[in-house]
Amino acid sequence: MTMIEKEPKQAATPAYRDLHEHLAELERRGLLLKIDRQIDKDSELHPLVRWQFVGGMQEAERKAFLFTNIVDGKGRKFDIPVVVGALAANRAVYSVGMDANVDDIQKKWDKAIANPVPPRVIENAPCHEIVMTGDDLQGLGNGLDSLPIPVSTPGFDSAPTLTATNVITKDPASGVQNMGTYRAALKAPDRLVVRMATRVGGAGGYRHYQAHQKRGEKEMPCAIVLGCPPYVAFMGPQKLPIDLDEMSVAGGLAGAPISVTKAKTVDLMVPAEAEVVIEGYIDTEYVEPEAPFGESHGHVALEEFNMPMRVTAITRRRDAVIPSYISQVAPSESSVIKRVAYEPLFLAHLRDALGIKGVKRVSLHEPLTGLLRVTTIVVDKGMPRTEVWRALYGAAFFKGDCGKICIAVNEDIDPDNMDAVFWALAYRSNPKDDVQIVPHRGQGHGPKREHTGEEDSTLLMDATMKSDMPPLALPKREFMERAKTIWDELGLPPVRPQPPWFGYSLGDWLPQWDAAAERAARGDYLENGRISLSQQQKGLVPETKFRPDEQ
Ligand SMILES: Cc1cc2nc3c(=O)[nH]c(=O)nc-3n(C[C@H](O)[C@H](O)[C@H](O)COP(=O)(O)O)c2cc1C
Repeated sequence: MTMIEKEPKQAATPAYRDLHEHLAELERRGLLLKIDRQIDKDSELHPLVRWQFVGGMQEAERKAFLFTNIVDGKGRKFDIPVVVGALAANRAVYSVGMDANVDDIQKKWDKAIANPVPPRVIENAPCHEIVMTGDDLQGLGNGLDSLPIPVSTPGFDSAPTLTATNVITKDPASGVQNMGTYRAALKAPDRLVVRMATRVGGAGGYRHYQAHQKRGEKEMPCAIVLGCPPYVAFMGPQKLPIDLDEMSVAGGLAGAPISVTKAKTVDLMVPAEAEVVIEGYIDTEYVEPEAPFGESHGHVALEEFNMPMRVTAITRRRDAVIPSYISQVAPSESSVIKRVAYEPLFLAHLRDALGIKGVKRVSLHEPLTGLLRVTTIVVDKGMPRTEVWRALYGAAFFKGDCGKICIAVNEDIDPDNMDAVFWALAYRSNPKDDVQIVPHRGQGHGPKREHTGEEDSTLLMDATMKSDMPPLALPKREFMERAKTIWDELGLPPVRPQPPWFGYSLGDWLPQWDAAAERAARGDYLENGRISLSQQQKGLVPETKFRPDEQ
């Protein structure tokens, strides 16, 4: 028996929370649900959490789900809990992980990238409290088969699949490590198949794989980490330059070194407080069929050849908790984790890199489209048309796989409300002048594969106001607010105001009309009648416009 148990080690340094401390903080803030009822990880676990994304709940109502009583499809029990949504069930959960308000997240990223803190190496790490090698990785119930890895999309997926991963590989020339969140399907107690995106701008780990191949090395060392301190976990899905050491950026977030330790059977450094580390070697010669698997673009990725990994050790904390990301159709944990990181990146690109000052916000449309396809840019009213178009082109071509459809709107349009966006398109754009189709776009992350060479294209729409318009025809705010007080006094069912819920000027509105409306609202309409009587004219066609300011 090569299973080595050691004494529990020190918890994370106070500078950052490990996953356990993060879960305790979520619980303290009412953001964690503990499920003690028995749950089948293969057919019940992900569908249960899915209901909070497809059940008509508000984003703010979502929580992380901690499952403590897990069985598999054959009724076999597991003693390791699984947590879903722990990193990004919603923005509130993500911001707990970042220890920052949602609005300060980008600033925190920028500061960390500018001020990385190198990790410190420790011995006797918590992630090595239990070490499984050799025979521990053979046979049913052992090795990977001892871990409660859920099936994400029951009915479509062909294997329990690791999703909340930080996959660590190393550039064989520079020695710089990379961490990416890549899925990995379980195949045997000591074998899984990892999928790293091969497209341009795809997985950093794939660049390392190619480097090993070029050097004639038949295997690439790899460590798949499940359950890192949140600062480290967030490095996985974040798009950072390939040669930037992500552990140092995580240290930048913490403002202190992240503890790392040497893996047991591969020459890689892993986060010391990790819950589980799967060590092994990725085959650079042979590939093996992997998937179907429900993907974050909202379709099932069909079977394809990916990278088999021979597991040489599984190490873990004695009290390990395994995180699993809920992904597939957006909104999901996967789309939240990316959205919080990507939107500020777009805004900074348009406003700071391209210098388009009137850009207020960039919103990546989330439900069903999954962020990468539809981008709404919110700009100042009155921004020159050429600047609106610079913003549209800038957003469309900033990232090869984002912004297939870009729409510019003014600030009064809520970009998260597609009814409002359609309203702007319907009344503020003239398709002949305000729509452009631009050829030559790659397929990006989606159900069509980029390497077929089939091109996509880009649709740009300017739905900003080109000139002043009459007000939105709802009572002014003060009247709606007064009515809301009465509504509440009457004890009517609570309302959830949906913008726009009050009328406001869109530029074409005169003080004379304001004065007339005020008189009407005071009950003085007869005074308005006296004024309009004095303005009667002869010989005009009905519906001829009248502007009291031009008299
Ligand atoms: C839940 C989730 C699953 C992901 N799965 C994969 C995957 O299987 N393969 C992949 O290449 N990228 C995947 N990604 C995207 C990468 O994590 C992302 O592109 C990241 O920037 C990769 O890091 P890298 O640039 O260091 O490779 C996933 C992201 C999330 C949030």
